[in-house]
Amino acid sequence: MPIFKAKERETPQVDFSRLPRHVAIIMDGNGRWAKRRGLPRTAGHAAGAETFRTIATYCKDIGLEYLTVYAFSTENWKRPAEEVSAIMGLLKKYLLEAIGKMEKDRVKMKFLGDLSPLSDELKELCLRTEEISTHYDGCQVNICLNYGGRDEIVRAARALAAECAAGQRKAEDITEADLSAHLYTAGLPDPDLVIRPSGELRLSNFLPWQSAYAEFYFTDVLWPDFTREELNKALAAYQARSRRFGGV
Ligand code: IPE
Ligand code: IPE
Ligand code: MG
Repeated sequence: MPIFKAKERETPQVDFSRLPRHVAIIMDGNGRWAKRRGLPRTAGHAAGAETFRTIATYCKDIGLEYLTVYAFSTENWKRPAEEVSAIMGLLKKYLLEAIGKMEKDRVKMKFLGDLSPLSDELKELCLRTEEISTHYDGCQVNICLNYGGRDEIVRAARALAAECAAGQRKAEDITEADLSAHLYTAGLPDPDLVIRPSGELRLSNFLPWQSAYAEFYFTDVLWPDFTREELNKALAAYQARSRRFGGV
């Protein structure tokens, strides 16, 4: 059982024996957090990376099975080159530190997205992180990197079309499960809860297929200010929802 700070214990509603299996978070609001402090946007990304570390560790401590975070979208390349390279630099720093501490943290890490445009060094670090943590059995943390939900569905459609063209399957036999099996998230349960901080009320191309029946939680808190207590609030809100999946 995790040890809570007094403040966190005050969040009474979370039943840790009834957690969602899979929580997904759109880590948004880094730029605005920095702007409010008169800092460059990159300082917001650095603060956001720290928040990620805290929240991922917390998820492992409370026994969550899957955490998926949106770190960089297929659309984020539209940002100024200096901001993109600062984000990639922070990712490198984070991965190097994570690799150093992996035996202690034992968090299983996976990357979802098209890693091909990343530098060889970053790609190698991502692969190494995945390989080292393959056998860890704690929380699995998926980092969506150069991830776009529509891009992911197009890739799946292409792969299925190619299998049809090769005579390996018939178009009319394709099922939802077949499409799911061709997504980056193949084998993972769908997210139960999708959290978006920063006050924006949209998905921004994050897990659109997988979130078809997810519960959504929005908060104005900016990602660098997101705390374990904020996550507890989201979990409590989730536990108060009634999921029907189209039934009664
Ligand atoms: C999210 O924070 C981080 C990335 C998209 C990489 P933003 O950089 O989008 O922060 P805001 O939305 O401008 O505040
Ligand atoms: C979504 O945030 C992407 C990540 C958090 C990585 P954005 O800041 O890119 O989304 P929009 O532009 O506000 O929709
Ligand atoms: Mg944003």
